[in-house]
Amino acid sequence: MNISSNLIASEQRLGANNYKPLDVVLTRGEGVHVWDTDGKRYLDCLSAYSAVNQGHCHPKILAAMVEQASRLTLTSRAFRNDQLGYLYEELAALTGSHKILPMNSGAEAVETAIKAVRKWGYEVKGVPEGMAEIIVCANNFHGRTLSIISFSTDPDARTGFGPYTPGFRIVPFGDAEALAAAINTNTVAALIEPIQGEAGVIIPPSGYFTRVRELCTANNVTLILDEIQTGLGRTGKLLAEEHEGIEADVTLIGKALSGGFYPVSAVLSNSEVLGVLKPGQHGSTFGGNPLACAVARAALKVLVEEGMIENAEKMGDYFLEGLRSIRSNIVKDVRGRGLMLAVELEPEAGGARQYCYALKDLGLLAKDTHDHTIRFAPPLVITREQVDWAMEQIEKVLT
Ligand SMILES: Cc1ncc(COP(=O)(O)O)c(C=O)c1O
Repeated sequence: MNISSNLIASEQRLGANNYKPLDVVLTRGEGVHVWDTDGKRYLDCLSAYSAVNQGHCHPKILAAMVEQASRLTLTSRAFRNDQLGYLYEELAALTGSHKILPMNSGAEAVETAIKAVRKWGYEVKGVPEGMAEIIVCANNFHGRTLSIISFSTDPDARTGFGPYTPGFRIVPFGDAEALAAAINTNTVAALIEPIQGEAGVIIPPSGYFTRVRELCTANNVTLILDEIQTGLGRTGKLLAEEHEGIEADVTLIGKALSGGFYPVSAVLSNSEVLGVLKPGQHGSTFGGNPLACAVARAALKVLVEEGMIENAEKMGDYFLEGLRSIRSNIVKDVRGRGLMLAVELEPEAGGARQYCYALKDLGLLAKDTHDHTIRFAPPLVITREQVDWAMEQIEKVLT
């Protein structure tokens, strides 16, 4: 057996079976490419679910990480560190947020927002204690913690993990009037993904978020946008909310906030919502640590300075055009915004996974989602030539 077969066998024997990865064992990454243990190169069209927007092992983020790691990694928030204040300033300048709370994983950012907005509901909006409701969308994906899966509509994510956290109302995604009908005096927030990534890159109808914004403002409901996947350039804008010219009250970011080097997430908020949290009411040993902050600062800097957001818009349009030009009778739909793209296959195609394996054999890594959809989300540094190469492989597999 070679190294990769041994490692796969160890994973299967000793690891919990909570993932079903493609059988490719990666050992190195640089820019848009990754290499397996046999030295074969692949174009990464998943980017670790959009965490590696800046490309694998970006040298400037690496340098910031190494420099900071050799100086100071963790203080806990019992003391202050000389990186957090800079990260706050830089994030606030970039996004216009007035209060920021750093966490680690995306799910933690979602949990943090849920806690804060419930408290805001009781203390500021005047909702009776214990009655706060949050509106969420069907087919959402916000993470894997108990409260989050409590409002999932995916049986795999939810079934068997009860009892569930109450206080959530589910409405169809993209239907603003359904959201309007679900609002009552106890509604504290609407928590929505700008584009539903895990559901298969589902883009809501144009005007949806404008109307959602109006409804939230009119009813004193906090609009929380989960930009953990769509944010930080993925859709060709810094934040996907910009496509509709709206502003959320609370924005959640994670993943690419570290360029894939480290788990870093953040809740970006107006002063009112995060303003309700007092010392002792929320926290994390690692949240806001100097290493995370230094990495995040570098990750944001290269994203902006190296024109990755603009490139995502340009290459996204080009990639989408390429996908749309493929003539194949197994393709049901092609959709995307920026470099967040998907090809939905006809049910007769027999499932997306076999096509992902065929692409892997040709040197392109992509991920199936929900049986019939293949998602394409390469690092934002992808070039036109690399898109052309990707398109040749995708066309071969789909035709
Ligand atoms: C929209 C969205 N929210 C939240 C999360 C959860 O992030 P994490 O896996 O870092 O907890 C994800 C992860 O895929 C996501 O796509």
